[in-house]
Amino acid sequence: GGDPGVFAMATAVLEAASVEEHADVPVRVLPAVTAANAAAARAGAPLGHDYAALSLSDRLKPWEVIAERLRAAAGADLVLALYNPGSGSRTWQVGKARELLLEHRAPDTPVVVARDVGGSGERVRIVRLAELDPAEVDMRTILLVGSSQTRVVRRGDGEEVVWTPRRYPET
Ligand SMILES: C[S@@+](CC[C@H](N)C(=O)[O-])C[C@H]1O[C@@H](n2cnc3c(N)ncnc32)[C@H](O)[C@@H]1O
Repeated sequence: GGDPGVFAMATAVLEAASVEEHADVPVRVLPAVTAANAAAARAGAPLGHDYAALSLSDRLKPWEVIAERLRAAAGADLVLALYNPGSGSRTWQVGKARELLLEHRAPDTPVVVARDVGGSGERVRIVRLAELDPAEVDMRTILLVGSSQTRVVRRGDGEEVVWTPRRYPET
């Protein structure tokens, strides 16, 4: 699902196609809507300013690399799109990521918890970073963690929307 070039199979296909014996196999990568964009649109416009996309899966890279990147992106005040946050067998990563992010972000930083966007099990919630519950996250969930500038506004219809201003303070 989503975009084949984002944490997905296009790169695996190109890796296989890069060996000499497959040099003549044609490969075409077709773009699609990635989960971060689909989830962002449901919640409002949280990706309206600079953001980083990270996978929390430590199956193909060590957790130390993930932690270092989380620290760097959080320290740079980027909005974060966290793919692969957890699964039945990867249960501690979200709690650990929350701990790391809280070293740089306020406890009331908005987090969009979006599950199965576009599917029959779609559920999109906005929670505070301090209240992010790892038990609510599965392999069909993406997390969008706000920056220091990301706002949550309750509109006339009672619905909450999340957006990150295009303008940064002092500009
Ligand atoms: C292996 S990655 C594939 C990403 C996909 N290629 C994309 O562009 O969205 C799987 C992760 O993408 C996210 N994801 C994919 N589809 C989703 C959906 N419909 N709703 C929420 N998150 C989704 C989840 O974080 C999931 O763990």
